[in-house]
Amino acid sequence: MNQTRIAALAETAGIDPLSAVTHPDPYPYYRELAASRPFFRDARLGLWVAAGPREVAAVLAHADCRVRPPAQPVPPALAGTAAGDLFGRLVRMNDGAAHAPLKALLVPMLAAVDPVRAAQQAVAMAQVLDAGNGARTAMPAASVNRWLFALPVVALASVLGLPVARDRDTAVEVAQQVAAFAAAQSPLADTDTVRAGAEAARWLGTWLASSLACGVAANGPLPALQHAALAAGIEAQAVAANIIGLLVQACEATAGLAGNTLLWLGRDPSSGGMPLQGVVARVAQDDPPVQNTRRFLAADTELCGHAVKAGDTVLVLLAAASCSGLADDARAWTFGHGRHACPGDRLAQALAAATVAALRACGAEPAALARAFRYRPSLNARIAHFL
Ligand code: HEM
Repeated sequence: MNQTRIAALAETAGIDPLSAVTHPDPYPYYRELAASRPFFRDARLGLWVAAGPREVAAVLAHADCRVRPPAQPVPPALAGTAAGDLFGRLVRMNDGAAHAPLKALLVPMLAAVDPVRAAQQAVAMAQVLDAGNGARTAMPAASVNRWLFALPVVALASVLGLPVARDRDTAVEVAQQVAAFAAAQSPLADTDTVRAGAEAARWLGTWLASSLACGVAANGPLPALQHAALAAGIEAQAVAANIIGLLVQACEATAGLAGNTLLWLGRDPSSGGMPLQGVVARVAQDDPPVQNTRRFLAADTELCGHAVKAGDTVLVLLAAASCSGLADDARAWTFGHGRHACPGDRLAQALAAATVAALRACGAEPAALARAFRYRPSLNARIAHFL
C-alpha cells in the first residue's frame, strides 16, 4: 500500500500512532504502518515512529536510544517531589551503569518466583479483598475496575512477603497508593494527580521501610535482595525504590492485560473453554496492554537508515510489531525487547490469568462487560474501564 492510501486510511479511521492506543480497532492501521512505513517521521506529532518488528528491535537495541531524555532524568512535573525521587531511581528509567547492577539482582529474583505460587497468592488475596461481600449474582463493573487495579498488585506484594494479607483495609490502601503513584507518571496527569502521586510515593516509602524493619518480609525474597545489594555497594534507597517499582509495574499494565482478556472472553465465548493462561498469552500478542514505549536520542546518529539528531524522540510501536505478522518469531512485544525488556513477563501473565479467574469466580460476566466499556485515556497503555 502506498503512502497516499495509508494517509487516507488513517484519516478515515481518525487514527494516528498515539490515538491508536485507545482506538476501538487499531490493528489494521498498525499492520499497514509495519508493512509500508516501518520507520518514519511523523511531522505533526514531532516524533520518529518505529512500527516494523526489525525497526522496533533496532531502536530498542541502539546504544544512543535512551529510556529518558539525557537532560531530563525525571519528568518535570514530578521533579523535586517524593514521586520524582522514587522515579529517578527505577532501573526501568535508567541506562547503562546506573541500571545494570541492581537489575542483575532483580531479574533472577523475579525469575525465581513460581507462577503457580503467584496464582495461589492471588486466590488468597482475592479472598481478602472480597471479605464481607459473600456470594453475589453479577459483579458490578465498578468492582471489576477496582479489582483489576488491586488484585495483581497485592498478590505480587504478598509473593514478595510484604504484609498485605492481614485485612481488607490494608490491602485496599496499598493498592490505592500504588495506583496513585502509577497514575502520576502519565504525561496526561493533572496537578492533583501529580500531588497525589507524590503523597503516595512518601506513604509507600514509609510503609516499605517499616515492613522491612520489623522483619515481616523475612519469608519472601526481599531480605536476600537487600543483602546482595548491600554486598554490591548498591544504596538502600535504590533497592527500596525498585521494590515499590515492582508493585507499580504490576499495576496498570497487568490491569490492562487482565481487562483485555475479559474483553476477549466476552467477544469470543468459545475461548472460555480454553486454558486461561493460553488466552492471556494470546491477548498479550493480539490486544496488548502496553502498545508503545519511547526512546530519546542521546547523540546524532543513523537509525534504520535515517539521520536522527540528539534530542529527537522515537515512538516505538510494540503493538504494531506484534500484529504485523512480519517478525521471525511470535512473541509478546508488549513486554519490550532488548536490554530493558520486562523481567516480570511470566509473572504478569500468571497474575493476569489469576485475576481474571478470581473475577469470574466472584460473578464478573465477560460478555456483559464487553458490551459497555471505554479505554482509559492514555498515550501508551490500552486499559479497559468497564461501565
Ligand atoms: C502485563 C503486564 C506488564 C507489561 C505489559 C509490562 C511491560 C513492560 C515493558 C514494555 C517494559 C520495557 C519498557 C521499555 O523498554 O521502555 C517493562 C519493563 C519492566 N517491567 Fe514490566 N510489564 C508488565 C508487568 C510487570 C510486572 C508484574 C513486573 C514485576 C513483577 C514488571 C517489572 C518490570 C521491570 C523491573 C522493568 C524494567 C526493566 C529494565 O528497565 O531493565 N513488569 N515492562
